[in-house]
Amino acid sequence: MTELSSEQEQKLVDAAREARGRAYAPYSKFFVGAAVLSADGTIVCGANVENASFGATLCAERAAIAAMLSAGHQSLLAVAVYTEADVPTTPCGICRQVIAEFGPRAIVICATPSAVQTFTADQLLPAAFALKPSS
Ligand code: THU
Repeated sequence: MTELSSEQEQKLVDAAREARGRAYAPYSKFFVGAAVLSADGTIVCGANVENASFGATLCAERAAIAAMLSAGHQSLLAVAVYTEADVPTTPCGICRQVIAEFGPRAIVICATPSAVQTFTADQLLPAAFALKPSS
């Protein structure tokens, strides 16, 4: 895990908040923004994208990670998730597994307008599935 400075953390949360404004969530009305920081300092955003066929919904975290990969970055240092829920929203199980794929030591920052909770990817998904476990 690489520590983030409070400026880096704030920048990532700000990016996630901005991305939340682009969420497409007409069904749940639960608007989520995410921002990921890659190893070279690039920040890429994503928002949740729902579908009338609910199972086709894409979470903000996975949207951001897919955008990061598409932009040519594979190493995930940190993820910020921003909602306006009563308490910080932590990534769903599928997103935790995807975070583990690209950032096994990533920092996960879960923020609302009034609270921030920080975790490591390993705290959120201990013993994540791996096709070829290292030990
Ligand atoms: N959602 C996310 O974007 N990220 C999460 O980690 C949890 C859930 C979205 C999916 C759906 O659009 C809405 O929140 C309600 O589940």
